[in-house]
Amino acid sequence: MTQQDKNQQDKNQSSNLPTRKLGTQGLQAGAIGLGTMGMTMAYGAGDEPGGIATIRRAYDLGVTLFDTAELYGMGTGSNEQLLGRAVKDFRDDVVIATKFGFDMDAPQNAAGMALNSRPDHIREVTENSLRHLGTDHIDVLYQHRVDPDVPIEDVAGTIGELIAEGKVRYLGLSEAGPDILRRAHAVHPVSVLQTEYSVFERAVEAEVLPVVRELGIGFVPYSPLGRGFLTGAVKPAAEYPADDMRSWDDRWQPGNYEKNLAAIRELTALADAKGITVTQLALAWLLAQGDDIVPIPGTRSPQRLAENVAAAHVTLTPQDLARVQEILPRGAAGSRYPEAIMPSW
Ligand SMILES: NC(=O)c1ccc[n+]([C@@H]2O[C@H](COP(=O)([O-])OP(=O)(O)OC[C@H]3O[C@@H](n4cnc5c(N)ncnc54)[C@H](OP(=O)(O)O)[C@@H]3O)[C@@H](O)[C@H]2O)c1
Repeated sequence: MTQQDKNQQDKNQSSNLPTRKLGTQGLQAGAIGLGTMGMTMAYGAGDEPGGIATIRRAYDLGVTLFDTAELYGMGTGSNEQLLGRAVKDFRDDVVIATKFGFDMDAPQNAAGMALNSRPDHIREVTENSLRHLGTDHIDVLYQHRVDPDVPIEDVAGTIGELIAEGKVRYLGLSEAGPDILRRAHAVHPVSVLQTEYSVFERAVEAEVLPVVRELGIGFVPYSPLGRGFLTGAVKPAAEYPADDMRSWDDRWQPGNYEKNLAAIRELTALADAKGITVTQLALAWLLAQGDDIVPIPGTRSPQRLAENVAAAHVTLTPQDLARVQEILPRGAAGSRYPEAIMPSW
């Protein structure tokens, strides 16, 4: 175990947040992590001071996995800089995960941001990320989206080289399917896969989670609160500003919205009966899906962060899990991405 791994474990033990292993290469983290995307984009105006206060509160509560990306600063580095500033005093006690994979200089088209996972670009983005984060190593470097123009063997090989050079510690993939996972893992062990997974979004259950388990890869569910729908703090799509993606998210559109809200009301009744919030129910449900799972809910609020972290101490009975399944047997009404940008496995 490296000194950094030991620091993280000590941090979790002193704060009472259980530690979970992610993959078989030694990566571990407190059972609930924190995503920083919403601190600079996606859900209306960002909130840098709120973000920094939330990251520091998270650390005090034993959170050690912090998730950012080049994309979250749209190439300016702003999200990584925010995270780097916030963890400056305890950087070696935490896991910093960031992602490459887009071409920030290319114009956005109907299929979203242009992809670029060419080895020279991975190296360039990694150097930028190190600089923006103010660190000499990235703990988990993820490919953000599979690039059909670059063989995954080249991507895994390049990250393997960065690991050998000490710039990166662990290889991660995001939105990769079974075939890509196997091919990457054959070149360099994949420590963690990050993909959307929640009570609302269940697609990974059929074919992805079995392969993750077979290969000994950890799993990080992103948008574990269904982009906030699973907190109950929602309003119809038309009431969000244009820079809030929920204004166009299918799950918020008329027809789907009402169905999903009805499900949230039933989940809230279950949560009330247990003396927890629906947000905690959603996170505890994910933690109950396997001890190889560390969700990364996003929030800009230290108070909401504390509510989310407390979900690690919630126990769901088989009856609770069966009731959740009864309420949402196949997940939410509506698609998680428009067809043009839906990742295909
Ligand atoms: N790999 C990928 O392609 C990918 C894609 C999307 C996201 N991610 C990662 O996953 C992280 C989390 O996903 P996400 O932020 O999209 O969605 P999420 O965690 O499912 O939901 C975030 C939303 O929930 C709200 N929220 C959080 N806790 C709450 C609480 N206790 N009560 C009420 N509202 C609460 C937040 O608002 P406030 O901020 O106002 O609290 C925010 O609007 C991101 O930050 C990012 O790191 C990765």
